[in-house]
Amino acid sequence: MSAGLVQAAYIIAAVFFIMSLAGLSKQETARSGNYYGIAGMAIALLATIFGPHSSGIAWILLAMVVGGGIGIHYAKKVEMTEMPELVAILHCFVGMAAVLVGYNSLLDAPEAATHAEHVIHLVEVYLGVFIGAVTFTGSIVAFGKLRGIISSSPLNLPHKHKLNLAAIVVSALLLKWYLGGDGALFPLFLMTLIAFAFGYHLVASIGGADMPVVVSMLNSYSGWAAAAAGFMLANDLLIVTGALVGSSGAILSYIMCKAMNRSFISVIAGGFGQEVAVSTGDEEQGEHRESTAEEVAEMLKNSKSVIITPGYGMAVAQAQYPVHEITDKLRAQGIEVRFGIHPVAGRLPGHMNVLLAEAKVPYDIVLEMDEINDDFTETDTVLVIGANDTVNPAALEDPTSPIAGMPVLEVWNAQNVVVFKRSMNTGYAGVQNPLFFKENSSMLFGDAKDSCLKIIEHL
Ligand code: TAP
Repeated sequence: MSAGLVQAAYIIAAVFFIMSLAGLSKQETARSGNYYGIAGMAIALLATIFGPHSSGIAWILLAMVVGGGIGIHYAKKVEMTEMPELVAILHCFVGMAAVLVGYNSLLDAPEAATHAEHVIHLVEVYLGVFIGAVTFTGSIVAFGKLRGIISSSPLNLPHKHKLNLAAIVVSALLLKWYLGGDGALFPLFLMTLIAFAFGYHLVASIGGADMPVVVSMLNSYSGWAAAAAGFMLANDLLIVTGALVGSSGAILSYIMCKAMNRSFISVIAGGFGQEVAVSTGDEEQGEHRESTAEEVAEMLKNSKSVIITPGYGMAVAQAQYPVHEITDKLRAQGIEVRFGIHPVAGRLPGHMNVLLAEAKVPYDIVLEMDEINDDFTETDTVLVIGANDTVNPAALEDPTSPIAGMPVLEVWNAQNVVVFKRSMNTGYAGVQNPLFFKENSSMLFGDAKDSCLKIIEHL
């Protein structure tokens, strides 16, 4: 393939990526967005592999078969509830790739035309390795926290802000040494170790409730790491793609921060890193009432309006199909049923929307938190299906709570609230939920899918 043809292919691929992002921004077009992305990536790969700068195609194909095989295996195996972990671990690969490309392009750099170009290349390598290393360890910690291998409570090292600042200042000084030594390896290596520790500390310091911001932030970092690799390899498409991922991740982080009423800077600086007292069901705040499936079915039949607020437990139980069946049955009886979706419900942005779309719940009855929050006062029954932190009144009522200030679905304003969960355990943020002890609340204990199936029997 000639260089001109490769450039043309890169432009077409970049357009496909932009169309992909546009498609992914709406549920109705998300599927075609995915297809555009696949098409763009296929064109990009073909143009790169068969382009004039590639050699050893057999090795590349062998690596692709092995890597692709592992990828297909995990993509098929992964449960929907494990998707955030998968995303986190994929970010860590992008980070490590940027580190390796950085070292490679330093050791194997072609002769630069001018001194200025040479210095620019050295700085690209340094920044690429730094961003890549931070992304690598940060993503591993995020993976550990999401999987429960690492505690979701924030790590509170003494003088943690000073430690972060010191990491940045020392890295800047090492840059001077590295440039002075015309790309000296030792300062680059030292900086890599510092960046690994910095990435670890940055994410470990962030508390459980702020994890949505971390996931989107690492998404953004992985994009910038890819863009940095693009500069090092002088690959325009990698720069464009990295910048698209980096900026869309940054926009998502901003949206997540807004949804949680957090400032981005204070989240990444671990400003909300108070010690979260992970409470258990023992720390109950009063008496709770229990309901049976039959009672809930009766309550639903006597309602005129119902709102369902799903959360992570619906994903665990895979309850979206029976939830849809309940919705259909109630709507057939003339009862208004709508869904209220909190922006950070579940473990991934849009997690609940994906599950409800999978179960073919009509889009027009699935509303965002802001669209539905004022309607709870006129609602007869709310079904809280496996949600906890996103319906926790402590966020509004208790200024000392780790989730204080986070907007939540104000389900307690409805006439009746039924909470579907298996125990009195806390949600992801480890905070007890006063909703469970309110007079108009009752608990329907058990796996959410089983509970929904039992309700269907009585409808
Ligand atoms: P959570 O607060 O995580 O609560 C989920 C509840 O589901 C748990 O209390 C659990 O109680 C229940 N549950 C688990 N399995 C169940 C099953 N099989 N059947 C019935 N119930 C089950 O959920 P949420 O309200 O969706 O809030 C999300 C949390 O995750 C927030 O803190 C958010 O910050 C965090 N987070 C979100 C994201 C994104 S981007 N969405 C990313 C990372 C973290 P039992 O154990 O008693 O059943």
